[in-house]
Amino acid sequence: MRTPFIAGNWKMNKTVGEAIAFVDEFRGLVAGVAGVDIALCPAFIALEATVKATAGTNIAVGAQGMFWKESGAYTGEVSPSMVKDVGCKYVIIGHSERRGRFGVPEAGMTEDLLKVFGDTDASVNVKSSAALQHDLTPIICVGETLDERQAGNADAVVQSQVRAALAGFTADQVPGVVLAYEPVWAIGTGETCESNEANRVCGLIRQTIAAVAGPSVADTVRVQYGGSVKPDNIEELIGKSDIDGALVGGASLKPDSFAALVKASAL
Ligand code: 13P
Repeated sequence: MRTPFIAGNWKMNKTVGEAIAFVDEFRGLVAGVAGVDIALCPAFIALEATVKATAGTNIAVGAQGMFWKESGAYTGEVSPSMVKDVGCKYVIIGHSERRGRFGVPEAGMTEDLLKVFGDTDASVNVKSSAALQHDLTPIICVGETLDERQAGNADAVVQSQVRAALAGFTADQVPGVVLAYEPVWAIGTGETCESNEANRVCGLIRQTIAAVAGPSVADTVRVQYGGSVKPDNIEELIGKSDIDGALVGGASLKPDSFAALVKASAL
């Protein structure tokens, strides 16, 4: 039995003060809720405050990304040991926005500017591996764009992203990861992937994990769905056999809506 896992990805939202105010309200709303793992993923500069505010609660904290090297001349980057040291349990790796793939295309985001979002299958692999080495659980994000789906390539894209992310992993490392299926076209668009289709792709991800680590390991790995998850569609999604939780953007920004998602997912 896989424990459902609901993680809030705050993206580039909330100052330190706003993060603390969120937790002050949210922790009471989910106090005593069992049978579900809960995480908040604020911006780097709000991590410490969020860890302190959630101390002694059932809420864990994750970073939204990190570099893979231990230290050195990597201006602007944050290392795995820094993420661990501040008190994170999780780290999101390879979110589509970090790969420069956006659900809502932005005017003025030219090819040159897009380069700032530099994650690739190769960086997702080394970052996920570094996370495990530092006892952090990577939440590895995969998902196809609308163009890829319309061209009939969704399955191939997702399978190849999962294979690349886990390349070189041993079967005993794989249980330490979480996968998140986030179809890019469903992110921030209000257009949720239909629950049977989301479940089918999450199942495909599990089969791909099984090809790397065997079916019994794949059975233990949690696969989240992400993309316009809201209180009114969570029950439909979480009820599916291969969907083990959600990675939530917009609906994680308000304590009441995020608490509703958590409660609806508890076993
Ligand atoms: P939304 O829930 O806002 O669509 O974002 C999903 C997401 O990207 C979570 O990582």
